[in-house]
Amino acid sequence: MSEAQMQVPLDRSWFYDNPEAYLSLPEFRRFEEISGLSLKDIMSDNREILQVTQQKWEDQSVISNEIRKQHFGFAFPYIVYTHTFHDFAATPNHNIELDKFLMGLDMCDSLRRRHIALSYGVIPYCLEKVHKATGRALMVKNLGSGVGLDVINATKGQNGRVVKVLNYDTNINSIELGRQIVAYLENQTGELRPGVIEYVEKSMTRSDEPADVIIMIGVICGLQDFAAQYLLTQSYNQLNKGGALIVSSSNHHMEKTDALASFLIQHMGAKEDSSKSWSLNFRTKEKMEKILREAGFDQIEIYSDTDYPGKAAIPDEILYGVDALPAKALGYPHQEKPLNLPPREILDRGIAYNWIAVATKK
Ligand SMILES: C[S@@+](CC[C@H](N)C(=O)[O-])C[C@H]1O[C@@H](n2cnc3c(N)ncnc32)[C@H](O)[C@@H]1O
Repeated sequence: MSEAQMQVPLDRSWFYDNPEAYLSLPEFRRFEEISGLSLKDIMSDNREILQVTQQKWEDQSVISNEIRKQHFGFAFPYIVYTHTFHDFAATPNHNIELDKFLMGLDMCDSLRRRHIALSYGVIPYCLEKVHKATGRALMVKNLGSGVGLDVINATKGQNGRVVKVLNYDTNINSIELGRQIVAYLENQTGELRPGVIEYVEKSMTRSDEPADVIIMIGVICGLQDFAAQYLLTQSYNQLNKGGALIVSSSNHHMEKTDALASFLIQHMGAKEDSSKSWSLNFRTKEKMEKILREAGFDQIEIYSDTDYPGKAAIPDEILYGVDALPAKALGYPHQEKPLNLPPREILDRGIAYNWIAVATKK
């Protein structure tokens, strides 16, 4: 089966049923003002207009340039976690105001919130829980890890509870960044035991080691349920008894709660084809539970980027902050505060865009 057949078909009917209602919203107008682009051109049926407009868009935005290179790549979430462009290709007309504007969209920022939830809430909670239940030093696999910053953050405090983390990814750039960060924590700060965290440049479908904890973040968001279920079942089969899977998915709020962010993602073409846009599976909580049950799990907890174990103990500077670890590890300057966040009333209104499920194997 081809990759395209596994992906969710693009459905923009929520927008095209009444485009004028959206195009007149202040944030849609603001995007046009900052970027100098016409949204009508971004929506154009004329291939040449579409190609030229998308090129102008990518030329002024590091975020958009990376997304066009690889939908579902590691770069977009990593830039949102760190608020730095340092690790990515410069664009010819970089418009920092545009990238700051994109980072400040609620739906984009939900990835930063997810990263904090995983680093300081869900992954530590799960490692402690599985360790306590099984008494084992844990073997962890992070599939489609990207740089693996969340697992690195969570493993730092585990004091020998984690014996090995295998980060699987097919993108060598993410692996090289991850290796540099791990080396810094092993050799410079001593916060990680040497050899615990490793990277494997291989498809996750070729990973066959048994594990106590398997993590899949940002991996099934674009997949049809049958394809997600194939991966979840593979994880179920590879988990040791008492082990747990942590898996995230885009949810129904990604469809149109933040209409501009959704519009942009659904109209941002791939480099090789400007009309090939990005689609997400907008799963409900019930759907998330169903695919996990069908994969074999019967003990399922579903959290989100706004509601998760350990959140109350996370200090504000982390909850409303960004991850400066890569800058420290690679030795480049970082402001150690966000370039731009959504307003506090939006951050605190409690709308989640990502489910984070913890499913345990009996
Ligand atoms: C959206 S990113 C998420 C990265 C990271 N887990 C995070 O949450 O920041 C998806 C990642 O999956 C990786 N990927 C895609 N297909 C893969 C495969 N077959 N095997 C391993 N990794 C894959 C991509 O290279 C990318 O780094």
